[in-house]
This record gives sequence, structure tokens and C-alpha cells, in this order.
Amino acid sequence: MQSARQILTGFPHDWYRQMRATNPVYFEPRFHIWYVFRYEDALRVLNDPATFSSETGQPSILGMDPPRHNLLRNLISRAFTPRIVAQLEGKITEITNELLDAAIARGQMDVIRDLAYPLPATIIAELLGVPSQEREMFIRWSNIITAGQRFGQGQTADDEGRKQTDREFREYFAIKLEEHRRQPDDDLMSSLILADVDGQRLNQEELLSFCRLLLFAGYETTANLIGNAMLAFEEHPDVVEELRGNPELMPGAIEEILRCYGSVIGAVRHVTTDTHIGKQALKRGDRLIVRADSANYDEEQFHDPERFNIRRMPNRHISFGHGLHYCLGAPLARLEGRIALNLFLQRLRNVRRNEDQPLEGVRSFFLLGLTSYPIIFTAR
Ligand code: HEM
Repeated sequence: MQSARQILTGFPHDWYRQMRATNPVYFEPRFHIWYVFRYEDALRVLNDPATFSSETGQPSILGMDPPRHNLLRNLISRAFTPRIVAQLEGKITEITNELLDAAIARGQMDVIRDLAYPLPATIIAELLGVPSQEREMFIRWSNIITAGQRFGQGQTADDEGRKQTDREFREYFAIKLEEHRRQPDDDLMSSLILADVDGQRLNQEELLSFCRLLLFAGYETTANLIGNAMLAFEEHPDVVEELRGNPELMPGAIEEILRCYGSVIGAVRHVTTDTHIGKQALKRGDRLIVRADSANYDEEQFHDPERFNIRRMPNRHISFGHGLHYCLGAPLARLEGRIALNLFLQRLRNVRRNEDQPLEGVRSFFLLGLTSYPIIFTAR
């Protein structure tokens, strides 16, 4: 049988190891992009936005360089605070329990379809103040928009359908923003509208683009954290038993799941001026991707990198990126992961994958994840 990890599209680990040793910056002709395999080179790229730019010309912080990025990130950080995230703890617990109740009542579960996806989608809806009666519509849009990021797989709408959904999404949130402007609350959207750095505020385009970015950046990524944890559990049953007895070990386990089964392949940049990484010359205009899935296994940085060790200390993986674009949603993803996985282990027993249904990896340039993970279980 194919190993669970190989099912994810990435993880050609023998090749990565060889490349780190012999050819650490490699031009991938299929995608016309350089791969940066080593940890140290990855940090150099991510710490030097002047040479390795994120700029896309879009109003989204993910595709922006300093100084504009600093201002926007400052504004967003004022709104997207640890307090806002901590407030979600009760909600995350409630939704996870509801999803698990439903699965237990049905007596069957596909972890991807029934937990990994609906949880972060509902939490983003909550963050954006989407009322419960409009949640289903929001989740439908989210699925259509995120499916557009994949290669011809699991798509629920054609291009025209997706554009239409994008328009509906924008119109809906333009109205929501207007409502919050008229009547500010203590929620994220009001804080975003009111956030102020030296008299500068987010404009309407930037606000709308941030609403969309939450989906783009926070939905499938978090879904894949929960989904990929299933592969980690499958490959390390001893760890599952340990975690069941010691839920306080979950944060360490999550870091190791992110390192070894990370949900994002890496970060893309383009070269602004002729430069070198190590011995490799790069030209202005070249594009590169920092391969987190290789850097996270770099033997120069991680002791015994192939070992899945939930007590690894320090664990400086770059699955949330590094430097100025470091993931703004990391505290939220960690919180969702901890609550969802602990409740999953507490409430379900004798979990095993239903091997009648073959596993399939998500086909995406950026993401590593599963399209389904059907299980057989008993409930406590
Ligand atoms: C940035 C990964 C969850 C919001 C990033 C970056 C990575 C990443 C690698 C940096 C990209 C770059 O440097 O080009 C992940 C992973 C997640 C996750 C693996 C889940 C396990 C979330 C969540 C949210 C979020 C839940 C929000 C709800 C963002 C934002 C940025 C970002 C806004 C842009 C930050 C900036 O450009 O300054 N994420 N993310 N992410 N992430 Fe996440």
C-alpha cells in the first residue's frame, strides 16, 4: 500500500535531501520557477524583500512589499489581535462538538468533509460577522472560490461561475462594511474599519481584499492542518495514544505536524535585481519558491529531521513563513488545530481509515492536503 505521506503530492524526500546536498537552488522547467531547498537560503530570501519581492500590484498584503506592506500589516494587526482570536475559543469548541455530534449520530465520518473544511470556514464566517442564517451561502462561496486555486480538481463551478461568486462575495461584504461603518461593533470588521496608523486607514479596496484574503489564506490551509494530522496519526499510533492521555502535548504535536506534513508548499517571490543564492546566479524577473517542505527537513537546522518528535525543541519550521510576511493567522490556526484534534481524539475511539476508499491528494501548486479521509470509529 502507498504510504499515507506519499499520497500528498509533495514529499519526495530522498530527492530533496539529494538536492539540498548537491543542487540547492534548482530551476524547475515545468513551471519556470526556481526551487530553494535549504533552510538557510530560505531565510535569506524571506528576510530580503528588496531583492526577493512579493509585489503583485494587488491591494492584498500577501502580495505587497515595504513600505506599503508595513503600513497595511500594522493596520490589520491592530484589528486582528490575540484578543479577537482568543475570543473564538468557545466558538471553535462549540462548532467542533456540533460537527462531531453530527458524525457520531450518522455513525460515519469523512474527516476532511465533515470536520477539516467546515470548521475553519465557519470560523472565518464568524470572524467576518456573517450571521448564522447566511453561513451556508458563505461556505458555498468559500468552496467555489478556493476550488479555483486548484488544478482542475474538485471544482464546483466553471470560470464564469467563479467570477459570479467573486462578484457576489464583494457585493455582500461591501454592504457589510457599510453596516459596520454606520454602527461599529467590537468585532474584527469594525476594528479593521477603525484601525488607524498616523491618520492612515484601510481603504474600501483594501478592506474587501482582506476579507477575501482571510478565505484564501485561512481556509484550506487550516483544513489541511487538520486533515494532514490524520496522516501523522496514522503513521504514529503511539503518538495518538500519548496525546489522548496528555492533551497538553497537542501544541507541540501541531508544530511537528506543521513541520513534517505542512499544508503550504512554500512562499513565492520574484527577483528584483541580478543576484546569487549560494553559487547559483539568478536574474532580475526570475521567480522562485522557497520550498518549506524541504527546508523543514534540512539536517543543518533540524536534528534527526526524519523523526516525528512532538517534543522537538526548538522547532523553527517555516510552515507559517518567516520574516515580514509571517502568517498573521498562525495563532488562530494553532487554536483551531488544538481544539479540533483534542476533541477528535477525546470523543472518537478505535479510529481507522476506511481503506475501501482510496486516498487522493489535493492537486494544487501551493497546498498539500487530502480530498477525503473516511474513517471507521466508535464513539465514547
Ligand atoms: C501568510 C501559512 C492559516 C492569514 C502566510 C504565509 C504562510 C502561511 C506560509 C506566508 C506567505 C509568504 O511569505 O508569502 C499558513 C498555514 C496556515 C495558515 C500553514 C494553517 C495551518 C492562516 C489563517 C489566517 C491566515 C487561519 C487567517 C484567518 C494569513 C495572512 C497572511 C498569511 C493574512 C499574509 C501576511 C502578510 O503578508 O504579511 N500564511 N497560514 N493564515 N496568512 Fe497564513
